[in-house]
Amino acid sequence: MWRSPAPPATANVRQRSNPPCPTEGSDAAATPDQHPDLERTALKGPPRADVPKSTSRGAVAEAHVMTAIIGIAGSLRRGSYNARLLRACAALAPRELEIGIASIAEVPLYDGDVEREQGVPGPVAQLKDEIARAQGLLLVSPEYNNSMPGVLKNAIDWLSRPPADIPRVFRNKPVALLGATPGRGGTRLAQAAWLPVFRTLGMRLWTGKQLYVAGAGEVFAEDGEVVDEAVRRLLTEFVAGFAEFVAGTPRP
Ligand SMILES: Cc1cc2nc3c(=O)[nH]c(=O)nc-3n(C[C@H](O)[C@H](O)[C@H](O)COP(=O)(O)O)c2cc1C
Repeated sequence: MWRSPAPPATANVRQRSNPPCPTEGSDAAATPDQHPDLERTALKGPPRADVPKSTSRGAVAEAHVMTAIIGIAGSLRRGSYNARLLRACAALAPRELEIGIASIAEVPLYDGDVEREQGVPGPVAQLKDEIARAQGLLLVSPEYNNSMPGVLKNAIDWLSRPPADIPRVFRNKPVALLGATPGRGGTRLAQAAWLPVFRTLGMRLWTGKQLYVAGAGEVFAEDGEVVDEAVRRLLTEFVAGFAEFVAGTPRP
């Protein structure tokens, strides 16, 4: 599940420090996938509630791990660029930060009848607990039709049930958002679409950097490694910035 990044090559990433440029429109396009399925997206393996060991860079002393967050990629696709991006974040994270990668693959479609009759499904309840225990949430979202993908929105919707549990799971939870697309827009419209969701759930969005990975077909090697030097550098800065933000956020 964990990998170290490969040596970088070309740059194809968009990131800017705040404030964002509000005048630059998205050039995101519904672009067909450029890569075949390159790998099985292995997103299993939720983070431990206690201080976990990082396996992303080999053996890291537990003493250095001070912050544990959970990462979720919003794609079920084998070879998902966004799943690769999440794994790259974990691999490039500072040693004091542990990024546990969770899966939404077992989250069913939301059904109010199921909720009323059976309650929240087991995989949803488990994921809720994992998010509640984590000090922050790293969401890696594809862009579909200039918005967020339904599969990830569906998962967040289930995770917000019942509403009385939202404070435990989401309120004041630091959240960072990024995404990758083979198109040119870098998921900027999807990222904008997530903002009201985070606000509704009472999350604390980290706005220190914005990261839009465009042209994802050239960013990742066939084995999923990041081969773009700029992406690697900006990802490293992004994760380090979020780690600082999370570490500075009081725990409930
Ligand atoms: C239904 C659908 C709509 C899409 N719409 C967009 C879009 O609006 N903007 C974009 O950049 N890419 C769009 N794409 C292309 C996705 O960015 C691409 O499939 C990407 O690889 C999905 O992320 P993943 O690799 O993590 O699965 C769309 C893909 C699908 C299947």
